[in-house]
Amino acid sequence: MALGRIERALKVRLHAQLAADPETHAWTLSLYRAGEHHPETVHDYFPHEAARPRWPWLAEQLKRHAGDERRHTALYGKAIREMGRETVELEGLDVLNNTIRARTQATWEIRDTDGPEVVRIRIAHFLAHAHHLERRVDRSVSFHLEACEQVGSSRTRAVAEIVARVAADEARHVTSTREALTEITTSRERAQILDVHERAEHDADLAFSSRQMRHLASAFAPRFSRLDRALYGLTSLAMELGLAARSHAPASTLDARPT
Ligand SMILES: [Fe+2]
Ligand SMILES: [Fe+2]
Repeated sequence: MALGRIERALKVRLHAQLAADPETHAWTLSLYRAGEHHPETVHDYFPHEAARPRWPWLAEQLKRHAGDERRHTALYGKAIREMGRETVELEGLDVLNNTIRARTQATWEIRDTDGPEVVRIRIAHFLAHAHHLERRVDRSVSFHLEACEQVGSSRTRAVAEIVARVAADEARHVTSTREALTEITTSRERAQILDVHERAEHDADLAFSSRQMRHLASAFAPRFSRLDRALYGLTSLAMELGLAARSHAPASTLDARPT
């Protein structure tokens, strides 16, 4: 509990420092934007066509969800432009979704030859992946929102308005993905599938946060005090050690990633 409060205080402090400077603020929004844009760069997100024959309501929900993320991409792009900065086009492990995917022991890619049961389980994997990703995004934007309000400049207040609109959608996505998963799986399947994606997201969060803190401390070094650089360097190291200490047996054999 105390650790949770310390982590929150540290993250809000970091976000406030990022938000206080237009350069680092734009970089932070580029990171968020890259995650929002990821679904448009891949073919296996929001499988509404595969869901439609059996669950037309889910097909509509997935289409709406995809539309929300496209809108969020545009909103972050607009916010960056309005602060007179360029969007940084990030790729690879600088996109949170990719870091999670790299650590996920399951696939949700649906092929034309897949039978109805394989389709059901793979849609379930997508929903569980999206659920844990949305929880993380929801948490991070809540830190950022608090930090923007703490800084209190006209620029950060304008960004806070945008982030608040995004945050309302993300909270809905957390719930809708979980509810849909409940509709299409048994409790045993659900527990196994959620476990796979919870582990992947937790590992990815440590790896991603550590990578970004290291980048931040070097790329924007003059903007931070020596004490802050040391603090973020130590936090990054602690995350890497925490990640290395986590040992994983395969969490589930349910539709494990094909080799
Ligand atoms: Fe989003
Ligand atoms: Fe979302």
